[in-house]
Amino acid sequence: MSNIMAIETVALDDQNSQLVLIDQTQLPNRVEILHLSTQEEIREAIYLLKVRGAPAIGVAAAFGIYLAAKGIQTDDYTAFLNEYRQCSKYLEEARPTAVNLAWALRRMEQVVLDHADMPVAEIKALLLKECNAIKDEDTDMCRRIGEHGLSVLKDGDGVLTHCNAGQLATSKYGTALAPIHLGRERGMQFRVYTDETRPLLQGARLSAFELMADGVDTTVICDNMASQVMKNGWVNAVFVGCDRVAANGDACNKIGTSGVAILAKHYGIPFYVLGPTSTIDLDTPTGDDIVIEQRPAHEVTDMWYEKPMAPQGVKVYNPAFDVTDHELITGIITEHGIAKPPYTESLKALFEKKNH
Ligand code: MRU
Repeated sequence: MSNIMAIETVALDDQNSQLVLIDQTQLPNRVEILHLSTQEEIREAIYLLKVRGAPAIGVAAAFGIYLAAKGIQTDDYTAFLNEYRQCSKYLEEARPTAVNLAWALRRMEQVVLDHADMPVAEIKALLLKECNAIKDEDTDMCRRIGEHGLSVLKDGDGVLTHCNAGQLATSKYGTALAPIHLGRERGMQFRVYTDETRPLLQGARLSAFELMADGVDTTVICDNMASQVMKNGWVNAVFVGCDRVAANGDACNKIGTSGVAILAKHYGIPFYVLGPTSTIDLDTPTGDDIVIEQRPAHEVTDMWYEKPMAPQGVKVYNPAFDVTDHELITGIITEHGIAKPPYTESLKALFEKKNH
């Protein structure tokens, strides 16, 4: 089997008008590459987490809307824009929490709006350029996040992570796992404890898979073992990703993250959130304003079991994300540096730096 680190998480095959993805629901047992042509297939791939992780969803949506635009059969700008917007809305509704999905679609739509005076064929060419730029920038951002993340680690450190904010969640390197992968390129070694991440097991299935492929010393733990691992003194820092960071620094990430942050505080372990500035949403004042995606019950009761493991008809609560209070976060590591509390000021300053 080829090394997963050498396969692109999300790619565009423009010649065949296809979105090409690693099907993450099949990992770690099978590396299956999907070639998707229709908007229904692309939206379903996002909803079913065949492609997942905030930045990867953004890239997939950018490629997806480009393919939709390419297929629109009109030369009339207004008719094109109307149809384009319908397709964009259709993709955006696939998952509500990760801001990168809406962010990438907004960025693509801006290209259409900024070139209303151009022939539709030329707008399509510009959209192709823009979606490729979104992907290339993602790789570059992740590398820079990795550099900043490495600055708070030393060779041999133990890092605990939750969910998968690795290469499989981005174009390359990842966010929370970028310092680990970048460190490997430089001959460094870390001990990574990856929470299995109930209910969809992104930590056990995906983080463990990509870390092992990169030769990282990897240990999977059940989510309820994090406290013991911290108490043992094995964790020097917690690194997690994010799906949306509010203006006050409250960080939304995979369900279970906030519990890890509370534990880290108890044991005096630094807790870092790593993500690109495209995941920071200054228009969302606090974590309370973030819409949390609710997922179906069968993911908890049936999905990983030969037989259902809970009584038929029992009520199930299955939020996909939770919000970690900004007071529990040691730093937010972005491609433009590390924001420290108070976040209302430091995040704003990061954006000023970015926009200059
Ligand atoms: O439901 P998922 O698997 O898409 O959730 C992913 C996460 O919560 C990640 O930590 C987050 O998107 C950051 S990915 C770099």
